[in-house]
Amino acid sequence: MVLKVIILAAGKGTRMRSNLPKVLQPLAQKPLLQHVIDTAQSLHCDEIITVIGHGAEQVKSQITGRHLLFTLQEEQLGTGHAVMQANSHYSESDTVLILYGDVPLTATSTLKRLLDSIDAQHPLSLLTVTLEEPTGYGRIVRDSKNAVQAIVEQKDANEQVLAITEVNTGIMAVKGSQLKKWLSTLDNRNAQAEYYLTDIISMAVSEGFSIQTTQPDNEIEVLGVNDKLQLQRLERQYQYECAKQLMQQGATVVDAQRLDVRGSVTIEPDVTLDVNVVLEGMVSLGANVTVGAHCILKNVQVAQNTHIHPFSHLEDCIVGQDCSIGPYARLRPGTELGNEAKVGNFVEIKKSKIGVGSKVSHLSYIGDTVMGNDVNIGAGTITCNYDGVNKYQTMIGDGVFIGSDTQLVAPVEIDSGATIGAGSTITKHAPANELTLSRSKQVTIKGWQKPTK
Ligand code: UD1
Ligand code: CA
Repeated sequence: MVLKVIILAAGKGTRMRSNLPKVLQPLAQKPLLQHVIDTAQSLHCDEIITVIGHGAEQVKSQITGRHLLFTLQEEQLGTGHAVMQANSHYSESDTVLILYGDVPLTATSTLKRLLDSIDAQHPLSLLTVTLEEPTGYGRIVRDSKNAVQAIVEQKDANEQVLAITEVNTGIMAVKGSQLKKWLSTLDNRNAQAEYYLTDIISMAVSEGFSIQTTQPDNEIEVLGVNDKLQLQRLERQYQYECAKQLMQQGATVVDAQRLDVRGSVTIEPDVTLDVNVVLEGMVSLGANVTVGAHCILKNVQVAQNTHIHPFSHLEDCIVGQDCSIGPYARLRPGTELGNEAKVGNFVEIKKSKIGVGSKVSHLSYIGDTVMGNDVNIGAGTITCNYDGVNKYQTMIGDGVFIGSDTQLVAPVEIDSGATIGAGSTITKHAPANELTLSRSKQVTIKGWQKPTK
């Protein structure tokens, strides 16, 4: 079976009141349309044809995917007209799945079920849902034997039809041959003078086909987004689903309303996530890892038994097991912490390796550094890695002790076992197992007078 997915994404989304096209509005930091494309891709489809119109250039430049092509609908004359723009991109023998660019959370399993329900005798299948509040949606009209007869749009419906609570989600699967034929006979004689895709249902019925219907497992899968309020509601629902999944895998989530997942998270047992944690990109957390309140982790790998204390910010880094980080730590891209390392408060680390059991406990900047095992970095120590033009490396051997308030002016090497006296500015190689310091002798000026006004 050749599967072509057509995504309708040409509409303006006036109610967003935004310069950003509707389908580029972010849900969990990813454009709505990108969610739809990623889902389509999970079906292993042969091609994705995205019908774009408003903000076409912007949409094209920000959306990516395999087997993805765009086709332009210059004027938005209705959903049927939109699908017609994809006409040359599918053939009669293809199966076509129609998705909407502003309905981001449809599950792959639901779409598979929808696709499984069509065959030569049943060339058209609809995803429908029963809503307590169906206003605005096209209604599914069934006969006395419960067979689908038609979809009637809100604006074309009489009282009796308006009372129907089963609605059209817009998502459907249809055989290419029939779709081509039915689209060619669409007209726009209706309340909105639009070419309605939904008119193909009554065409199929009049040709004697019975229409299949499938329902999603969760209502969230078919919710569309038209304004910022709906966007926010869907975001919270999505976030709740993410928290639920993590809890089902064994995580302790202190408050499911105060966790944000903007990417994908993998966890081992007994992870604890405190309030207002934000997880972005690819995050993996080992067994017993705790993430304190108000932490942001982006593209981070954390091994078991490590504790990340409140208000810490980690990005693009790898953390070993049994480490302690924060509170108020910042691990910037390229940081690697060995097992049992400790990074304390107000410490910033960039593009550096910290060895097993090494400690940077207070108020430091460590950049472009390779640090061995069991090193102790005193409070306020700073690597001076930048001369205003270039960046240089600092090498620190095993078992080194750096006294507080030291500046290590890179490039510089501190050999294993060395001790650096507090308050030093180290510009040259410090030999192994010796005390090195750069400090003028302490003097007391006898009889010195305080200045007066
Ligand atoms: C459509 C359905 C309705 C269904 C509802 C579900 C039709 C006639 N009606 O109504 O039965 O209950 O969706 O949300 O199909 N689009 C284009 N080009 C166009 C028109 C629309 O690309 O010319 C895109 C929009 O960007 C949007 C989607 O198609 O992503 C749906 O369009 P919209 O105008 O919101 O359709 P509804 O009137 O809500
Ligand atoms: Ca709509």
